[in-house]
Amino acid sequence: MERVRWGVVGPGRIAAKVVQDFVHLPEAEVVAVASRSAERAAAFAAAHGIARAHGSYRAIVEDDAVDVLYIATPHPQHRAVALAALAAGKAVLVEKAFTVTPAATREIAALAAEKGVFAMEAMWTRFQPAVVRMRDLLADGAIGEVRSVQGELGVHAPTDPEDRYYNPAVGGGALFDLTVYPISFAQMVLGTPDTVQAHGLLSASGVDVEEAVLLGWADGRTASLFTSLRCATPGQMRVYGTGGWIDVLPRFHHPDTVVVHRTGRDAEEVTAPHTGGGYVHELREVTEGLLAGRTESAVMPLADTVAVQDVMGAVADRIGLVPQEGPEDL
Ligand SMILES: NC(=O)c1ccc[n+]([C@@H]2O[C@H](COP(=O)([O-])OP(=O)(O)OC[C@H]3O[C@@H](n4cnc5c(N)ncnc54)[C@H](OP(=O)(O)O)[C@@H]3O)[C@@H](O)[C@H]2O)c1
Repeated sequence: MERVRWGVVGPGRIAAKVVQDFVHLPEAEVVAVASRSAERAAAFAAAHGIARAHGSYRAIVEDDAVDVLYIATPHPQHRAVALAALAAGKAVLVEKAFTVTPAATREIAALAAEKGVFAMEAMWTRFQPAVVRMRDLLADGAIGEVRSVQGELGVHAPTDPEDRYYNPAVGGGALFDLTVYPISFAQMVLGTPDTVQAHGLLSASGVDVEEAVLLGWADGRTASLFTSLRCATPGQMRVYGTGGWIDVLPRFHHPDTVVVHRTGRDAEEVTAPHTGGGYVHELREVTEGLLAGRTESAVMPLADTVAVQDVMGAVADRIGLVPQEGPEDL
């Protein structure tokens, strides 16, 4: 394989942004798109200069001209496409939240392992250059021993029951759209937590509107996180260590700048902007992984995705949310 041929599944809002970043990735090309409607597939293909338009997800899974699928359907609709793609030997990049139940994530991870096919969660935060710099700073001991993470992510979303945010059938609620980011960030910095506490509010439609999550580690480390579909918040993350702290400036899930505060020293600003819309970094990880014959990302391994989904499953239990995966069939 010299050039990786991508297919897009679910031509919605995020897919339209992500495909624009392929211009920064000469080793990859978007060759196909699939929608549940032939008209929507054709319109997306025309708008983005994509050669092949499929009027069903099954058709792109069976398209031999495609190596890897970028799955950008709503979260409960990820599972069926990912399983079908892996069964057909196609690699997958699955939007966050990977699934809405830990069981479905395990199922996908198990099939990827069985087939020896690359699979990764599209958690773009982990590939942002500023976040990569922050991980290096933490590994170098810039703020000593890391003890805690504190952050928030909120939007003032319209309370429209038809909107994806408030519709349980498409995985609505704060947990899978917003809370996944601070949970994944905390898991990246501190590892997999030992305890999960949460308190939140459900809407009349049964989705979570806002919540606070407290993660605990047996050695006393903590993460305290707040997310909301009602309150617009800065979207900042702070990492505390025994020798100072690092601010990840808003919005922390795709930051350009982190500020290192070493105890007793002047603050140091580290700026490392992303390329394009910020999606090219995760696209490069998958593309290079496939070209190198890898089956997983070391930066966003499936074990971390499983750990994050387990935390989200525990949060759902604590706040009374009952997520349902979408239909089995494509
Ligand atoms: N990384 C990021 O920055 C980011 C940002 C936003 C969203 N996301 C993630 O990307 C995924 C999609 O979000 P989005 O905002 O792009 O959603 P969206 O605009 O609603 O688009 C989702 C697409 O999925 C398809 N689809 C398949 N089954 C569907 C169903 N039952 N109901 C509605 N649409 C269905 C639709 O295309 P067809 O019907 O034409 O096939 C639709 O256009 C979510 O998992 C979300 O968390 C990631």
